[in-house]
Amino acid sequence: MDSILVRGNGPLSGEISIAGAKNAALTLMPATLLTDEPLTLTNVPRLSDIKTTNELLSSLGTEVAVMQDGQIIVLDTHEITNHTAHYDIVRKMRASILVLGPMLAREGYAVVSLPGGCAIGARPVDLHLKGLEAMGAKIDLKEGYIHATAKNGLKGATIEFPFASVGATENILMAATLAKGTTVIKNAAREPEIVDLADCLRKMGAHISGDGSSVITIEGVEKLHGTTHPVVTDRIELGTYMLAPVIAGGEVELLGGRIDLLSAFCEKLDEAGISVTETKRGLKVASRNGRITGVNVTTEPFPGFPTDLQAQMMAALCTADGTSVLEETIFENRFMHAPELIRMGANIDVHGGHATVTGVTKLKGAPVMATDLRASVSLILAGLAATGETIVSRVYHLDRGYEQLVRKLAACGADIERISA
Ligand code: EPZ
Repeated sequence: MDSILVRGNGPLSGEISIAGAKNAALTLMPATLLTDEPLTLTNVPRLSDIKTTNELLSSLGTEVAVMQDGQIIVLDTHEITNHTAHYDIVRKMRASILVLGPMLAREGYAVVSLPGGCAIGARPVDLHLKGLEAMGAKIDLKEGYIHATAKNGLKGATIEFPFASVGATENILMAATLAKGTTVIKNAAREPEIVDLADCLRKMGAHISGDGSSVITIEGVEKLHGTTHPVVTDRIELGTYMLAPVIAGGEVELLGGRIDLLSAFCEKLDEAGISVTETKRGLKVASRNGRITGVNVTTEPFPGFPTDLQAQMMAALCTADGTSVLEETIFENRFMHAPELIRMGANIDVHGGHATVTGVTKLKGAPVMATDLRASVSLILAGLAATGETIVSRVYHLDRGYEQLVRKLAACGADIERISA
């Protein structure tokens, strides 16, 4: 297993281009199952999760053509030849559950392995299943697999989520495009990746309104056609790299960055003493000495502070001036980066869903272990300003969500290298 070695190396300076959003691509790709015409996606990030999704879709009968070094993918599901998404693929990536809605909508039946939990939580899919049942599907759970049938096709329904689940919104949104009648999703997730999916589905002929708000209305249609669609910018990669100069000092321009994708995060940076400026090519973040003011953070569904930036923000607050309290409200176990940051000299107290961080002047490099995607990148960020060497092991987690991370940070002056095991 590869590791990444980071040495504190002073302020950063340069520019980082932001890729297409992993969490948009992972829901756009299953949309190919809704049509027998080709779906072409551009600005696709080059990540292992994308490769896993290509593998999953191919197993269902999709012809996958990868071009331009992975940035363009043509998905052609002329026919679904296999209706079972097997555990050996689904267990590698939970987002595989997003083939359930589209496959059921098009074929009237689908068998998908229950995705296991993961390090950050149990991550059940009960809301996905309840939503599809409300649309007339029969759901049976047998030997770890979801058997979903809708012999006469899905029918429109009004579905109200107890909380704004991103994946459940995406599954129901895709399924509803081919259902008979109108579907209304109440307390829908509002993330930009949902709006990107709706934009793509509309280009395929779907009738969708209200995406980006808490109420999405979908009028089912007979058939969808193919289209070409660019994947929206990755706001989590953007926020991650915005914190690099915050932690290490210096100035970095994030090409393709958009403030509207991260308003709550930018407001929090402003509160901590960091100003973000919009440029012709994206966003610029500058920080004099890498020391910010401690702030309190509560993760919430969009447009609140993203849970996927909580670990990275914690890394920045470890050397802040003052105390910060981070409250994680989305996942039940998303502080696993804390013990690793403590190994680097951070002063963090975790109680249930709250972590209290008391700023120290400097972290010290240490060997640390990545536990999940966002925790691993928070350790890399912490290593940028720590004295000495930080070695982050199990970086396969990183490859799931950050393309060319070492190259992007090294180009801004970071002393960072990947060590193959
Ligand atoms: C998506 O996961 C993202 N993944 C996650 O990003 C992100 O953290 C999360 O949304 C929240 O923003 C992708 O888009 C591929 P949820 P998802 O359904 O859809 C519970 C990353 O690092 N829940 O909004 O699984 C669930 O357990 C990843 O890129 C149910 O109880 O998130 C969690 O506690 C991590 N029942 C909470 O809701 C359900 O049926 C939020 O889950 C569904 C979810």
